[in-house]
Amino acid sequence: MRGVGVRLSREIAIIGAGMTRFHHKLHADKTSRELFVKAALEARGSVDNGFELPEVEALFVGNFSSDAFEGQIHMAALAADWLGICPRAATRVEDACASSGVAMNVASMAIASGAYDIVMVGGVEKMRGLRTEEVTDTLAMAADAVYEVGAGFTFPGLFAALASAHFAKHGSNWEQLAAISIKNHHNGALNPKAHFQSEIMETARKLGERNDMTFEDELEFLRSPLNPVIAHPLRLFDCCPVSDGAAVLILAAGDVARKFTDTPVYIRGIGQASDTLALHDRVDLTTMNAAKIAAAQAYEIAWVKAKDIDVADVHDCFTIAELLATEDLGFFPKGEGGLAAENGRTALDGDVTVNPDGGLKAKGHPIGATGAAMAYEIFKQLRGEAGRHQVDDVEYGLTHNMGGSGATVSVQVYGR
Ligand code: COA
Repeated sequence: MRGVGVRLSREIAIIGAGMTRFHHKLHADKTSRELFVKAALEARGSVDNGFELPEVEALFVGNFSSDAFEGQIHMAALAADWLGICPRAATRVEDACASSGVAMNVASMAIASGAYDIVMVGGVEKMRGLRTEEVTDTLAMAADAVYEVGAGFTFPGLFAALASAHFAKHGSNWEQLAAISIKNHHNGALNPKAHFQSEIMETARKLGERNDMTFEDELEFLRSPLNPVIAHPLRLFDCCPVSDGAAVLILAAGDVARKFTDTPVYIRGIGQASDTLALHDRVDLTTMNAAKIAAAQAYEIAWVKAKDIDVADVHDCFTIAELLATEDLGFFPKGEGGLAAENGRTALDGDVTVNPDGGLKAKGHPIGATGAAMAYEIFKQLRGEAGRHQVDDVEYGLTHNMGGSGATVSVQVYGR
């Protein structure tokens, strides 16, 4: 099955990328438009041979819900206005948490079609204007309002159900999820753009001192009441935080990219698929069919196999989501993703590095910005510019961005 129905008929290159730090407090006095402009200006400045914003021919902005979060919609035109690139076409893309991953695919197809040579694509979300319970209600709009939200489900609850199903069917366990969290916090501690930049043991010591408790190791802390259950079996450190931020990429057709840089990163393959919104309609809760199909499309277009991927940014909104992704993307057989994480096979020096930037767990998850931030990370990795979390010998990278509990998945494969 070929869902996106296209071969990429032109080469598509990323020539520049920018990203704000993701954080819950740092951007308190900023609006989405300001965050987007900040990331866009950084992207402009990152183009090796210079780039002027009027060279952008079209803009695509992933944004989940600036209406609910800020009382402001029409985010793409607003961003174009604040970037000073009107009357260029500006389009908002909304596909829940996959908004800017899907925007990446739309922007790629806009170049592949020949409609444009140079496009800007990114994403933004400013969530922290609302209290956590209001954020939870807003996010729940991406689940099935009748069958899931009506029955009391929130996103932590939905992913908790997926974790329980995986534990029951494949014998995975919470300690394996904890290994994913420990790894992602370790990587986040090396990433200056990450929301959380501390190892779990550092947090354990800090919270331990405040509460007159000591911990031998991460697992002892993660099992303690200082890491409360959010939705059984998921605890606080199994969840991504609520963050503000933006990320922006500049894409160019292969034949014009070399004018801007000698080291473009190519988008070799793209894929996208959908599934039932409501979990109760899925045949198997332990696999994300949309991820398998989107990955198969992207691999086929890019002429690669899962084993060729060296580094991947995957959608770990909850630790169980990373476990599922590493299986559904074909990195590990079904049922073995948890063990692989526990054995360090997804670490910075593992067989396939997963979430070197800290993932959603530690880097943060400003919904609309997440897919673009993944592309930012893989762009940096393929150019050898990822700093302290750089992975050695990267030839192929992958991004996997998921909307809801798997109803939308976009995948991109990148190469040099
Ligand atoms: N992991 C680790 N620490 C976290 C955290 C997380 N996910 N979320 C918050 N914290 C920390 C904060 O940094 C803060 O520490 P500090 O006081 O030292 O600064 C403390 O916990 C309290 O933060 P607060 O924002 O008040 O937490 P909360 O209890 O209101 O929210 C969650 C916690 C898990 C409910 C919230 O982060 C959440 O809803 N996450 C999931 C978001 C989501 O569903 N996204 C979409 C996925 S599909």
